Amino acid sequence: MTDGVLGINATLARPTTLEAVPSRSAQGEVSSHLDRAPGRPSEWWRRAVIYQVYVRSFADGNGDGIGDLAGVRSRLRYLADLGVDAIWFTPWYVSPLADGGYDVADYRAIDPAFGSLEEAERLIAEAHQLGIRTIVDIVPNHVSDQHPWFQAALAAGPGSPERARFWFRPGKGPDGSEMPNHWTSNFWGEPWTRTTNPDGTPGDWYLHLFTPEQPDLNWGHPDVRAEHEDVLRFWFDRGVAGVRIDSAALLVKDPALPEIPENPAPGQHPNTDRDELHDIYRSWRAVADSYPDRRILVGELWLPDHERFAKYLRPDELHTAFNFDFMVQPWNAASLRESIDRTLAAHAPVNAPATWVLSNHDVTRPVTRYGQEDTSFAFVNKRAGTPSDLEKGRRRARAAALLAAALPGSLYIYQGEELGLDEVTDLPAHQIQDPMHHRSGGTDPGRDGCRVPLPWSGTCPPFGFSPDSTSAEPWLSQPRHWANLTVEAESRDPGSMLGLYRQMLAIRREDPDLGGEFAWLPSDPGVLAFARGDRFICIVNLSAAPVRLPAGCSLSLASAAISGDLLPPDAAAWLHSEPAQTPGDAGRPAYGGK
Ligand code: GLC
Ligand code: CA
Repeated sequence: MTDGVLGINATLARPTTLEAVPSRSAQGEVSSHLDRAPGRPSEWWRRAVIYQVYVRSFADGNGDGIGDLAGVRSRLRYLADLGVDAIWFTPWYVSPLADGGYDVADYRAIDPAFGSLEEAERLIAEAHQLGIRTIVDIVPNHVSDQHPWFQAALAAGPGSPERARFWFRPGKGPDGSEMPNHWTSNFWGEPWTRTTNPDGTPGDWYLHLFTPEQPDLNWGHPDVRAEHEDVLRFWFDRGVAGVRIDSAALLVKDPALPEIPENPAPGQHPNTDRDELHDIYRSWRAVADSYPDRRILVGELWLPDHERFAKYLRPDELHTAFNFDFMVQPWNAASLRESIDRTLAAHAPVNAPATWVLSNHDVTRPVTRYGQEDTSFAFVNKRAGTPSDLEKGRRRARAAALLAAALPGSLYIYQGEELGLDEVTDLPAHQIQDPMHHRSGGTDPGRDGCRVPLPWSGTCPPFGFSPDSTSAEPWLSQPRHWANLTVEAESRDPGSMLGLYRQMLAIRREDPDLGGEFAWLPSDPGVLAFARGDRFICIVNLSAAPVRLPAGCSLSLASAAISGDLLPPDAAAWLHSEPAQTPGDAGRPAYGGK
């Protein structure tokens, strides 16, 4: 890492609030600095920094090349030092891994490859001790085809009550060989699979919006609702602070399973964002609210309509949802600014905090994406072999981090983002597991490139991912150039991405202005400039030329070296204005003049 960082006023030390031993209630509530913020008692999720752990690729404790809970436990201190408030764990349940664990066979047990339920309980408790809350991933739209319910449905045959929990339908055409409708799968290919009857004849079809190994549940069935509410209680009883709801807009289907109309009326799409979903989430909220301390619901909602999106965040539904609108924007000032405005406008009426997300386990790593010619993200546009200028991408990813972390709301960090890892685009073909790759016929590179095991230390793979004594290789091969991107290497260099994230999160935690009002400041078109609270200013230069930083401000953090008072292209700075220059002042200069 060669980029320099000016950390003139940055508070580098871990804040004292977290060094104090956190207090815990019987339910496992954590007390951290967020709980003590004035006016915000225990509404910790409104400003939280939430770190996403993809368990399989975080750290391997037992040396089989697969990440596990022992590995996470051994690295909790790293996450505490980074300055995160909560960890969201992608599914850790028993699963045949047809879709990286989003095919759950038992929602109440940990996959043996990861550990045991007892170990998960220990992990939750140890994280609490460090002031870190735990969020688990709930997958309600579908189960694994190995789940006892689906196995029972197959065995019981057509028309049975067991099948009523899913979407079994006879095929069309004289011999039933045509699919019941022409919906599309989210993972390429067809969303229906034909079964074979117990007597060997071709049988009914079942619906799966993802892979055939992920049959969709029928949310009109009372068992399905009761089961999931019980699963929520199961994890809340174990002290988790919240749940992330997978594919949250897809659960309810029109029972007639009609073809998808060209322009469905809002709430009338046969399988997405149906009005009936709100009733389900109101019941979930009641379950969460039945606990004396706060348990939160976070939705994975990919919805283009912002008003429809915000309906899920009404006070008696979900607490927050991922802001994919922001995540997919190209590296362009106008697009980002519009997205920020849309986001804030959509959240305000329901009084829900926005979330700011740059990446997750489903999308191209930002360092790679921002170095490509098309810097926006869309699943359908992912193509193997797309070139990327990683140096440029890394500069932009650093600036994007300062942008996202300065906006009002909570912040998500996907493991490895803080190291500036790039997407691994040359995985050996035999290692690729993602069904998106296989079901696309190989045109979609799939999501394994952002799921490669983390590099912790050392100069060659497995980079400390597995214990040193291990000979097993990581389940996905790590690139050799990650030797410069290990936690160990980056910890030595305050100018590294990790150094930037640590400083950024420390300031975010300490500076009360970052809980204050958001206001745009006048700026040139290629520049984003805004104030938070009385004195905090964030400036992001997305133009091709350097921009002058305002006089009378002190620099607290920058994503790139600053020469004189010029902020280079593809860089961001956090500043403090002098008390006289508060955002309300008249006559303030526009940021961006050369
Ligand atoms: C969500 C998950 C993704 C998974 C899909 C199906 O989008 O983030 O990883 O493949 O749901 O469960
Ligand atoms: Ca392991």
